Amino acid sequence: MRTPIVAGNWKMYKTNSEAASFVRELALRIAAYSNVERVVCPPFVALAGVAEAVVGTPIKVGAQNVHWEDQGAYTSQIAPPMLVGLAEYVIIGHSECRAYLGETDEMINRKAKALLAHGLKPIIAVGESLAQNDAGDTDAFVSGQVRAALQGIDSQSMPSIVLAYEPIWAIGTGKSASSAVAQQIIGGTIRKTLEELYGVQVADLVRIQYGGSVKPDNMADYMSQPDVDGALVGGASLKLDDFTKLVEAASRAKGS
Ligand code: PGA
Repeated sequence: MRTPIVAGNWKMYKTNSEAASFVRELALRIAAYSNVERVVCPPFVALAGVAEAVVGTPIKVGAQNVHWEDQGAYTSQIAPPMLVGLAEYVIIGHSECRAYLGETDEMINRKAKALLAHGLKPIIAVGESLAQNDAGDTDAFVSGQVRAALQGIDSQSMPSIVLAYEPIWAIGTGKSASSAVAQQIIGGTIRKTLEELYGVQVADLVRIQYGGSVKPDNMADYMSQPDVDGALVGGASLKLDDFTKLVEAASRAKGS
């Protein structure tokens, strides 16, 4: 049984004080849904404030990116040891970082290995562009991204990894993939790829989220799909009411 995981990717929104007061209130609202892992991923500068604000609450903290080196002359970058104690999860491979920061599959693979080496849990985002989708290349492309991100990572590490299928054309556009398509890519493509790489037992326990215009009104639909283990959410995770409803829907759909 995979515990669903709902993660709010706050992108470049919320100051340190806004983020801390938001999570204090959020913690009260979503405390009851203990069958769901609840994660907020604030901007780097808000990590320390949020980490302090969630002490004693069930909310876990994630970062939005990381460098693969432990330290060095990399102006503006954040190293894995700097996140230890502040974050449990780290999003890597987000399409905005691939597109705007020029991140490659190879860099994402190095980041994944660096995170694991420091006991941090990667949330690895993959997903195709509209052009790739239109051309019928989604399966091959997404499977290739998964293979590249996981190259050289052994099966013992896999329970620490979360994957997120985020079709680029659905991010922040209000155009979400249908839940049937999400199930097809998550179950049929990504979990199949994991099965080929690690065998069925490992593939069965890795959690795979859907992301891309997830809102309170479509969350239950995604969560009703057997292979969808939660959501990576941008816009809707910035609002207390919406975040609460997302967690509630995940809890109800996958409740045990
Ligand atoms: P969105 O963003 O929910 O605003 O579409 C999702 C993401 O980028 O992770």
